[in-house]
Amino acid sequence: MELAQAIRERRSVRKFRLDPVPRETLEHILELATWAPSGMNRQPWHFIVVRGEKAEELRSIFSEAGEEMRPRLEARFADRPKIVESTLEFFRTYGGAQVFILAYAGASTGSGWDTNSTAVAVQNLLLAAHEAGLGATWTDGIMGKEASINEAVGVTDKKLVCVVPVGYPDEAPRVPPRREGRIEWIGF
Ligand SMILES: Cc1cc2nc3c(=O)[nH]c(=O)nc-3n(C[C@H](O)[C@H](O)[C@H](O)COP(=O)(O)O)c2cc1C
Repeated sequence: MELAQAIRERRSVRKFRLDPVPRETLEHILELATWAPSGMNRQPWHFIVVRGEKAEELRSIFSEAGEEMRPRLEARFADRPKIVESTLEFFRTYGGAQVFILAYAGASTGSGWDTNSTAVAVQNLLLAAHEAGLGATWTDGIMGKEASINEAVGVTDKKLVCVVPVGYPDEAPRVPPRREGRIEWIGF
């Protein structure tokens, strides 16, 4: 797949088939993630790939995070109850994803470098997943439950950047149009 095509056609997938994702495919996309640039070449990312019973434990934590978000969502989308319900439905099930990739940044510097570098690596991961025929989504709406998530996977010294559900897509998400006026040219 051409890089430009992968960039344009990657979408956030929130509904997954149950077909298992081979470990080799996950290893491949994670290896590509680690070729991202990083501040001072620290390569500060740390990925935890979760499947099976632990994934179910995480799914129930994510569901609690969604319910805790309900009042904010209802206030924000007071006139669009369907958005509230579809968002909460996603948090309840995480689209049925069988695999979660937790992206952590080393928490040693206190600067934004490590989280920024990890975010760049996650974008590599999302593009590589798309090229491999997988669906995935950056999610961080679960941050209210960061402590519970960390405890579930035994992390004590890193910063959770996002959770990426991964699986074969069971939907073709709509293409959000690009917003105008986001690029400014000087000296051209
Ligand atoms: C920083 C960030 C946070 C996001 N958080 C969530 C989230 O918590 N839940 C979710 O379903 N999608 C989340 N998304 C995905 C966006 O909703 C999605 O990228 C956006 O709607 C554009 O759609 P596309 O990715 O298909 O182009 C997040 C994306 C980013 C970059």
